[in-house]
Amino acid sequence: MSDILLSVRNISKSFPGTQALKDVSINFRRGEVHALVGENGAGKSTLMNIVSGVMRPDSGSVLFEGGAVNFSGAEDALKLGISYVHQEKVLCPHISVAENLFLGQTIKNRFGFFDYGTIYKKARDILDLFASDIDPAARVDSLNVSQRQIIEISRAIARDCNVLILDEPTSSLMEKEVNLLFKIVKELKNKSITVIYITHRMNEIFSICDRFSVLRDGSLIVTDDVAGADAKRVISFMVGRDIEDSHPEKADRIGEVVLEVKGLALKPAFEDVSFKLRKGEILGFAGLMGSGRSELAKAICGAYKRDSGGVFLDGHEVKASNYHESLALGIAYLTEDRKEEGLFLNLSVQNNICAACVSSISKGGVFLDLCKESETASEYIHELKIVTSGLNTPITALSGGNQQKVMIAKVLSTKPKVIFFDEPTRGIDVVAKMEIHKQMLSLAREGIAVVLISSEMPEIIGISNRILVMHEGRVRGELQRDEINETNIMALASGHDIQG
Ligand SMILES: Nc1ncnc2c1ncn2[C@@H]1O[C@H](COP(=O)(O)OP(=O)(O)OP(=O)(O)O)[C@@H](O)[C@H]1O
Ligand SMILES: [Mg+2]
Repeated sequence: MSDILLSVRNISKSFPGTQALKDVSINFRRGEVHALVGENGAGKSTLMNIVSGVMRPDSGSVLFEGGAVNFSGAEDALKLGISYVHQEKVLCPHISVAENLFLGQTIKNRFGFFDYGTIYKKARDILDLFASDIDPAARVDSLNVSQRQIIEISRAIARDCNVLILDEPTSSLMEKEVNLLFKIVKELKNKSITVIYITHRMNEIFSICDRFSVLRDGSLIVTDDVAGADAKRVISFMVGRDIEDSHPEKADRIGEVVLEVKGLALKPAFEDVSFKLRKGEILGFAGLMGSGRSELAKAICGAYKRDSGGVFLDGHEVKASNYHESLALGIAYLTEDRKEEGLFLNLSVQNNICAACVSSISKGGVFLDLCKESETASEYIHELKIVTSGLNTPITALSGGNQQKVMIAKVLSTKPKVIFFDEPTRGIDVVAKMEIHKQMLSLAREGIAVVLISSEMPEIIGISNRILVMHEGRVRGELQRDEINETNIMALASGHDIQG
């Protein structure tokens, strides 16, 4: 038996205006964890769409156990046990967790009816792998992003598979769940299952992967063993040059208080939250997922009606009852959920970038100034290095990371006084991430007050001037400059005090 389970040979694929893959050949061995890495838009998801039967290549072939396969849809690949957990979530929101887990599988009781008893029980067993307390009967739209991610991964594991493709699986998981996922991946590997693992987090490659392949601009650059490589080398393959891991200087022109939050509560999400935010400051919000950070930010930005407390901008109480009103006053929120509430999926790149700033580029407030709109959009595409074949490209044709950049451009274009960034670099590649950090710092230098909600330690530690740590809906503590480190954040985030 050959040790190669799956191969792609000379695969090319074009979309209007872009050649996404150019003559890519990779062998995936039985029982290996194979990292697939590359910058945003490099072609990773496209290649996996082809391997899993979602898309057809223009040329080249996919081989399974040495034989060429000709998939006419994802079901064909599933029949061979090739299971793809997509980067963009694909669950059905209006039905239960258990129904989602076993969608497409007919589990009937002896009377021929859908057997809820059995699927709830089976669902429980699978969810237990993640030590998760998600209720199998809960509707998916009642779950947060992290819980949805667990369901996506569980669903793929629930099907017996030979090849499991995970496309940025940890981007919305908590550390505890990441560790459980790593354990599950190792078990799958022991069962000779091949895992193809797409990630922008270098440390994950070195924790669980055996080999790695790098794509750059649609071409395969290298396939090699992880042992013997280091992050710097992998990154230089990705970008085609050496990158200095520079730590930018923190913002240092901190001015007067611009936003004040007093005694804000929205039970059970959060209560008794008070803080001040100054011009030119980057204030980090740390905490475990589910600690109430996003709910708090959304409530401040008008999306939720709060139980009590007040928000004051430049000393005046803010009474916005939705994002739009809040934005008009100068408080912007960049959502962590780009698909559900961040982007207009049926509009172009340009329309999305300019969606929020329409009033500032409308002539006389009535007509859209299209020239100005395309100028604004072009500027951001250039500044944030958004990979798109044009201004009028539909947003859904962009790679995941580039869609994220469009969301950031959309918020920046409104020129707000205060910006809440909720997990802004999720799905963003290493180099683009540095770019976005630079952008945030330069916003602060221009006097804009920035709140950064992030679960990524290096990010929040690297650029925040001050950090509030939340635990179960309350501010557990505040860390000043020299107190900012991972140990202190973790202590407060898990409800303890800091030492010394
Ligand atoms: N359905 C589509 N229509 C048009 N262009 C597409 C489509 N899907 C992908 N592309 C283009 O193909 C290229 C590769 O995209 P792909 O999604 O494979 O990148 P990726 O490596 O997965 O990036 P990321 O890390 O951002 O997820 C990009 O330029 C993208 O804009
Ligand atoms: Mg992708």
